[in-house]
Amino acid sequence: MIKVNKSPVTMIAGTGSYVPNHFLSNYDLEKIVDTSDEWIKSRTGINYRAIVENGTITSDLCKEASLEALEEAKISPKDLDLIIVGTVTGDVKFPATACYVQKKIGALNAAAFDLNAACSGFLYGITIADHIMGNSKYNNILVIGGDILSSITNWKDKNTCVLFGDGAGACVLKRSDGKKGVLGTYIKSDGNLSELLTMPGGGTKYPTKESMPDQKYNYINMEGREVFKHAIINMIDAANIILKGVNLSISDVDILIPHQANMRIIESVAKKINIPLERVFINLDKYGNTSSGSIPIALNEARKQGRIKEGDICLMVVFGGGFTWGSVVVKF
Ligand code: ACO
Repeated sequence: MIKVNKSPVTMIAGTGSYVPNHFLSNYDLEKIVDTSDEWIKSRTGINYRAIVENGTITSDLCKEASLEALEEAKISPKDLDLIIVGTVTGDVKFPATACYVQKKIGALNAAAFDLNAACSGFLYGITIADHIMGNSKYNNILVIGGDILSSITNWKDKNTCVLFGDGAGACVLKRSDGKKGVLGTYIKSDGNLSELLTMPGGGTKYPTKESMPDQKYNYINMEGREVFKHAIINMIDAANIILKGVNLSISDVDILIPHQANMRIIESVAKKINIPLERVFINLDKYGNTSSGSIPIALNEARKQGRIKEGDICLMVVFGGGFTWGSVVVKF
């Protein structure tokens, strides 16, 4: 599904992010599983991942990211009309983590819900917010992506445990003056490939530990090579489709913010769509793959580091479990 805005309806008025200050290095992982710093660095590009301390829950990370975004947007939480949280590791099964965030930041006048699009949660959230803003009287929407993947990581599985980290990012979308903001959104899924990246346990299929054929079902299960292949193909596709839709070429893009999953995926996508790595924002080495936190954390860091200036065109591209993927173009 593609949506092109000739005149933007929503603009990004503030961004924020939060990652725990406890880091796990590749050397720390060498002590846990049969791996090496050299293998992890060369196969993924990751050096560290931030991991929450016991007792910290997803809404805590989302709250911190949201407060930073709200402050920059100069918006009181009470002015929020809607809160969307993209997550696969919510505080509890229900209610939505978005409702806990609403409570924690005092956004008393908002509606709040979660969406599950795995790593694509944030860009799916921006897409939905942009659609809603265009068809309602809402003025302020908070979109958050946040996950504590360490809570569903199998720390005995070297194939997955080196990849993931915890964190959240947020952005406040305001009604645009029509000159800057979201130029276009594109989202797509393929449920035929759902089994390649999944956490099977805890739902209606395998509700209890006793009902699970394998205790591995309590954790992330991933066919790494397949995910790798599909991530590259679909991120390239998503980038090309949205650029064509909004009538821009890659040379118009000042910065690409790709999903931070694997350096080799980022390099392949950048090469294929023909953007030099100097125009690609990368923080994967510090945080690993933070799932739906990945893009909004990178977006916030890019802005706060001065990598995105007034008038810049930013292309964001994501891929995740489902499979789900998507792209968003924003003029700042
Ligand atoms: N340390 C050392 N050796 C390892 C490790 C490790 N951490 N992990 C796997 N290996 C070994 C394997 O056992 C295998 O050994 P073998 O040849 O003796 O059987 C060898 O390394 C190669 O394994 P592959 O799986 O083929 O390695 P590959 O080069 O494909 O890299 C990786 C694996 C990093 C997981 C890669 O496939 C990848 O990044 N896939 C995408 C993962 C991803 O991005 N997931 C998330 C996207 S969606 C979302 O964000 C939720």
